[in-house]
Amino acid sequence: MSQRFGLGDELHAYVVEHGTPPDAVLQRLAATTAEQTGPFARMQIAPEQGALLTWLTRVVAPERALEVGTFTGYSAICIARGLDERGRLLCLDVSEEWTSIARVAWQEAGLDDRIELRLGPAADSLAEIPVEPPFDLAFIDADKTGYETYLDLVHARLRHGGVVVVDNVLRRGSVLDADTDNDDTKAIQAFNDARTTDERWDTVMLPIGDGLTLLRKR
Ligand SMILES: C[S@@+](CC[C@H](N)C(=O)[O-])C[C@H]1O[C@@H](n2cnc3c(N)ncnc32)[C@H](O)[C@@H]1O
Repeated sequence: MSQRFGLGDELHAYVVEHGTPPDAVLQRLAATTAEQTGPFARMQIAPEQGALLTWLTRVVAPERALEVGTFTGYSAICIARGLDERGRLLCLDVSEEWTSIARVAWQEAGLDDRIELRLGPAADSLAEIPVEPPFDLAFIDADKTGYETYLDLVHARLRHGGVVVVDNVLRRGSVLDADTDNDDTKAIQAFNDARTTDERWDTVMLPIGDGLTLLRKR
């Protein structure tokens, strides 16, 4: 659900064109995802978010990166591309069907040797991962009601100074609706509110795509 929050089509196109735009691999994956998943394709991150993920990965230079919520693999490609030769990305998702599209795309992108995929509920997969060696970078983009649990589990497995990126924190603006009865929106509202008193992180919220929160572990 990460698309051009608050930007008109023209300004969004301008933003995408004036950052590193999606290359042929990412454009093909976006087209395949639209073709094969129909309305679910809107779950894919926005192209400018992808450029930011690659950029951030290059800056953080993680040996160990983590993704919670992989879908058809777009954001994983953006992260994996930013890794240097030592870096590896672990992806967690529940869907065999959607991640089978991801596996093909990773192979086409020449990134399959850098990415490991584990299928199953992310809370279980995360709990099974030892706290050492820690991750350096994590991206959270799975079921919204799980975000608080994922963040706690990731925090325990992240090095000091490590970075977490969290998607959909603006929920297309619906976070402002105090009377919402949508469980995902309520979960994100609670998640965002909890960060205002959470001393574990340096926090910045960016209005890019559907809203990204960047957290740096203190
Ligand atoms: C918003 S999509 C991820 C989009 C992806 N980051 C991209 O750029 O294309 C959310 C993903 O979370 C997965 N998911 C939902 N509930 C989950 C759970 N409990 N554990 C792990 N993955 C889950 C879904 O299967 C879906 O692929």
